[in-house]
Amino acid sequence: MGENGTTAPWWRDAVIYQVYLQSFADGNADGVGDVAGLRSRIGYLSGLGIDAVWITPWFRSPLRDAGYDVADYRAIHPRYGSVDEGRELIDECHAAGIRVILDIVPNHTSSDHPWFAAALNSPPGSAERARYHVRAGRDDGTSPPNDWLSVFGGPAWTRVDDGEWYLHLFDSSQPDLNWDSAEVRSEFEDILRFWFDLGVDGFRIDVATALVKAPGLPDLGYPDGAFLADLTRADHPHRDRDEVHEIYRDWRKLADSYDPPRMFAAEAWLDDPDRLSRYVRPDELHTTLNLYYLKSAWTADGMRRAIDASIAATSGVGAPTTWALSNHDVERVVTRYGRDDTRRRPGVSGPELGPVDERLGRRRARAAALLTLALPGSVYVYQGDELGLADAHVPEQARQDPIWIRSRGRRWGRDGARVPLPWTPDGGSFGFGDDGAWLPQPPGWGAHAVSSQAGDDSSFLELYRSALSLRRAHPALGGTGEVRWCEAPRDDVLVFTRDPGFGCVVNFGPAPAPIPWTGASSWSVTTEPARARSPPTAPSGWTSGRRTAHDHDRAPQRGADPLARRRHPPGRVRPRRRGEPRRRPAGVRGAPVRPGVLHDPAVQPGPRVAVHRPLPAHERADGSGQPGLGVRARERTVPSLLSELGYRTALIGQQHESRDPYRLGFDEVHPWLAGPARCGPVSQRAVEWLEAAPGEPFFLTVGFFETHRPYPADGYPPVDPASVEVPPYLPDNEHTRADLAGFLGSIRVADAATGRVVDAVERAGLADSTLLLFTTDHGIAYPRAKGTLYDPGIRVAFVARPPRSWGVAPGAPDGLLSHVDVLPTLVELAGGPVPPSVQGQSFASVLRGEPGRRRTEVFAEKNYHDEYDPIRGIRTDRYAYIRTLEPGTPPRLSGDIERGPVRLGLGEEQLRPRPAEELYDLDDDPWQLCDLAGDPSYAEVKAGLAARLDAWMSETNDPVLAGRVAAPSGSLDEGPVPR
Ligand code: NOJ
Repeated sequence: MGENGTTAPWWRDAVIYQVYLQSFADGNADGVGDVAGLRSRIGYLSGLGIDAVWITPWFRSPLRDAGYDVADYRAIHPRYGSVDEGRELIDECHAAGIRVILDIVPNHTSSDHPWFAAALNSPPGSAERARYHVRAGRDDGTSPPNDWLSVFGGPAWTRVDDGEWYLHLFDSSQPDLNWDSAEVRSEFEDILRFWFDLGVDGFRIDVATALVKAPGLPDLGYPDGAFLADLTRADHPHRDRDEVHEIYRDWRKLADSYDPPRMFAAEAWLDDPDRLSRYVRPDELHTTLNLYYLKSAWTADGMRRAIDASIAATSGVGAPTTWALSNHDVERVVTRYGRDDTRRRPGVSGPELGPVDERLGRRRARAAALLTLALPGSVYVYQGDELGLADAHVPEQARQDPIWIRSRGRRWGRDGARVPLPWTPDGGSFGFGDDGAWLPQPPGWGAHAVSSQAGDDSSFLELYRSALSLRRAHPALGGTGEVRWCEAPRDDVLVFTRDPGFGCVVNFGPAPAPIPWTGASSWSVTTEPARARSPPTAPSGWTSGRRTAHDHDRAPQRGADPLARRRHPPGRVRPRRRGEPRRRPAGVRGAPVRPGVLHDPAVQPGPRVAVHRPLPAHERADGSGQPGLGVRARERTVPSLLSELGYRTALIGQQHESRDPYRLGFDEVHPWLAGPARCGPVSQRAVEWLEAAPGEPFFLTVGFFETHRPYPADGYPPVDPASVEVPPYLPDNEHTRADLAGFLGSIRVADAATGRVVDAVERAGLADSTLLLFTTDHGIAYPRAKGTLYDPGIRVAFVARPPRSWGVAPGAPDGLLSHVDVLPTLVELAGGPVPPSVQGQSFASVLRGEPGRRRTEVFAEKNYHDEYDPIRGIRTDRYAYIRTLEPGTPPRLSGDIERGPVRLGLGEEQLRPRPAEELYDLDDDPWQLCDLAGDPSYAEVKAGLAARLDAWMSETNDPVLAGRVAAPSGSLDEGPVPR
């Protein structure tokens, strides 16, 4: 709705995605993107949250300038498809809520256009030649008629066989039309009608300022060495002439004659915003592409000036402003922003521009994306910018841009920004198509692929998706409302608000800056890598009364109100005051740590880089608010114990122990309050934390949601189901395979995120002194695994990397370990006394590569998951003995397994009641398929194991000995929350 309650035209604040057709998606396996490819990706576009696509020229063309050389304006190049397919595409886009803008090229045709052929075949002075600028040269005809230069290099004139010259402001294959010709004018109106009648919603107008030339085509007079004369100079003979506006007034009438009215966006490279605004006067075009903003340096001052000037210019004539960070004619924003000089410098290219730090460019580009999407008006997103692509290096022999060709290699041209998109991490052309790509994609391109990024909340793609969705949802965003600048804490920070209740802060400098509305203790943002001991950083943040789109968060944090003081802003910890004791959970020194077990079937899987087990395992723990989880007042946790030993302790991401992560005893908590803590943003935040790691010893827990179900394919590209090895305890069918394929895909994503954290430890120079532990909460979420005490349910991934300075050789030591051993191990390594009540057994000696006593058994216990299902077990090197305390009750699969594909192919076998006792000999039967409990030859073994289990149950005062264990209800959390 518009400001006055009226419905504003869509184009006033639309997000328009630029499809560079030949590089978007190839649907017919010829290496060139096409309409079929685009149609196949409409779902992607609608998921991205854009409002319209601008499709670069798809007309019949010899493609010497990538289609900006049109031979037939009413036909789609057969390489791209047909007009029928175009019509279907338009309909399909409309059905998906996406409008379609085409690209009209009125300044010039292709030299293959029938009009130009007719001009060349007609004598000087003929009507056919009058459609173009064809005339005799100077100096007896041997020199061009004037001094104009081609934008692509060389003179703007080419001589034809009979000695006349024709004008081409671009390539010689692009002769300029003569817009003094009534025939030219009416032809173009007819072309517009042709496409409008087909349902096209608007046009971008190529080189919109150049159509009209000064009478007599006078010399321009270039300053020495200038590649182009100043386009804003008064009375320029081929740019921005007053007469061009007449053409657009006629076009506007044409667009308005349609219902709904169609729209135009002018490509107008004018440095003077006021001149630009003349194109969008009420009776002319609707918008101009804001190339002024696109050229600005990435500095607070530069961007603010560009924003102010743009808004001032367009608002003066009642038009909306548009914003773009890049397009197919310029370096990608990541590349430009990765340089020292971030201005766009026309005429300078390639190595002359200086080195590029792509990492820095990406950080800045992320910030720029949020800044841009927070501005009023319409935004253009160039394809691939949402993936954070940088310009690709295109080998010289592969370059195709006429700029490269015409400048004889002096100017690099635009190919680097036009390389076909990566859709998948691998494959011949990274999912672009089935047969290569017309411009070579560099190695490593797949790392930026859509499917590599989808679901990874730290990715560019997810940043765009969440920002676009917030932009749609938030009443202050979009629209054409005011940008209200606020006092910024420093010169290199921009702060503005928009009504109602929205604030944007962009930090262009290296030092963290506070967000003004929430006070100094709020989270800080910066575009440069954090130096020194700064808190986690992110380049740009939005805060609003409803939600926050922080650069690294896809999932918006709830309750981040810039105008209200937050009690505990996400991602920061209230600093400990001088003299204040380290905060502890509501625990009492020396209170018993309840006995635990190897496996807690109640908790959800989630790889961790470091481990803590604050809870006794038979109490349920899950951050999602299930009953029966929490931290009791007397319970001690790893972070609380290590904190007492002088460690700084921090939690980033998922935890399953308490509804309130602040109870767990960490000094510092970076919780995920909204949505699952996906490994992308969690690892990103961990990396930043490590980049600014404290000087004191620290204990960092990084918790990922993955590999929790579900595994949507766009977030976790599945492996090939045919390649999956189905374990023998599961039925081998298509459902199981599909399920496992997704699971393995999610492991891959989690692995990569884990690797990023490990790399950050290396980069931070901490590898010599840091112990890394990686583990999962429990076995895999499959039948006969999660929720059971069979091995697949209680075996967990566990990888330890001792500090490098210990010089321990890699290996897989024999023997059993239990998660309950982690606590005593860490406390011992930290030099503290292990509380006597701790049941676990330190494996510090194993980590040091020293001989030591190894575990001979682990015990396992389960009471509840989806139902009361008391089981106990003992596992030795060789045997597994499992006791079901309520035999005869059919076990229930946990809800996530029930909903998974594997369930569809599952017989009743897994759901049969378990016997009271089971015994497996793992030497012969590692998958525990052959129950030996009734085999007399194993009677002695069974009796021995049963006795050990009984002893453990009584030693640990197992509650089941007193009868049925009460179902957990409500939270177990007790005591004050240490904030
Ligand atoms: C501007 C277009 O964006 C560019 O790609 C093209 O080369 C020139 N106009 C000439 O049409």
